[in-house]
Amino acid sequence: MVRALEWVDESKTLRLIDQTQLPGTETYLDVDTVEVLVDAIQSLAVRGAPALGAVGALGVVVAINQGSREGWSADRLALEVDRVRRARPTAVNLAWGVDQVWPFADQGVAAVLRRALEIVAEDEAANRRLSVLGADWILQRTGRQKVRVVTHCNTGALATTAWGTAYGIIHELYERGALEMVYADETRPLLQGARLTSWELVQDGIPHLIEADGAASSTILRGLVDVAIIGADRIAADGDSANKVGSVALALAAKYAGIPFVVAAPSSTVDLDTATGADIEIELRDDVEVLTYGGVRTAPVEAKGFNPAFDVTPHDLISAIVTEFGVVEPDRTPEPRLLAKIVG
Ligand code: MRU
Repeated sequence: MVRALEWVDESKTLRLIDQTQLPGTETYLDVDTVEVLVDAIQSLAVRGAPALGAVGALGVVVAINQGSREGWSADRLALEVDRVRRARPTAVNLAWGVDQVWPFADQGVAAVLRRALEIVAEDEAANRRLSVLGADWILQRTGRQKVRVVTHCNTGALATTAWGTAYGIIHELYERGALEMVYADETRPLLQGARLTSWELVQDGIPHLIEADGAASSTILRGLVDVAIIGADRIAADGDSANKVGSVALALAAKYAGIPFVVAAPSSTVDLDTATGADIEIELRDDVEVLTYGGVRTAPVEAKGFNPAFDVTPHDLISAIVTEFGVVEPDRTPEPRLLAKIVG
């Protein structure tokens, strides 16, 4: 299984597979400065909420080591750590990862690194557990022996520390012989589905078809899939869930068609401090991403773009939120009891 990130102790660097180059080229970035790390996060060389959680935690180690080399003051170190924490706004995991390890900074870099590596291991364990729970729930709810799935964006090993979330459920279904077909949305404008999810599905030998994002709701309404499964970047206290832009179209179509819409994420993605989806900051990216295709300008030179990177699916469109601690059914369960079950 490919790893999106790895701590290399000998060189004291954070090694990232450069996801902007996939699937064409497998290149790696060895990160030992905050500047390079922030650039890697913002350019999506490393991406996906759980991966960003681990990168946030290991990023504190990078900052402390750079600070020691360059003689930073405590204030400067705090500022640089905050730069990492704020490099992207929507996935709560990034800030969560930083906040998990920063309190250990007083005890020295070894203590910070120890907690960061625990986070890496915990994420994989959470993904494997939620995949079992999610697959059980889907097979029970659909009543089918084999399911056809639609998914959006990339939620596999590349988006996490290992195994994946929504992708992990798909993989689990496949290993149980309970998966017929995956429709993988290409995920405009940066093609995380066509480039990354497909790359992982090919490696895992999982049957799939890439479709344009605009095809997804029709795929659902035509009865070609039994369930939609996506990941999340932030799940608010009421169950509203932010994920890659385009996700809410799947949720609306799934509700209309009467098929389950499943959100899968580790508990680190649940943000009880954010009351509802309306409070989630949606990253607005450079409009050049939608005005061009493969680096070539496709829109008129006079045109301007609108490029929100995420959208929010209201909780009443969500059939199940799955974390490592359990499954809740936001469209059925009264809100106050909702999240206690899935945050541990
Ligand atoms: O902009 P990205 O590629 O970081 O967006 C990623 C997603 O929206 C994923 O679906 C989400 O982070 C869940 S990853 C397990």
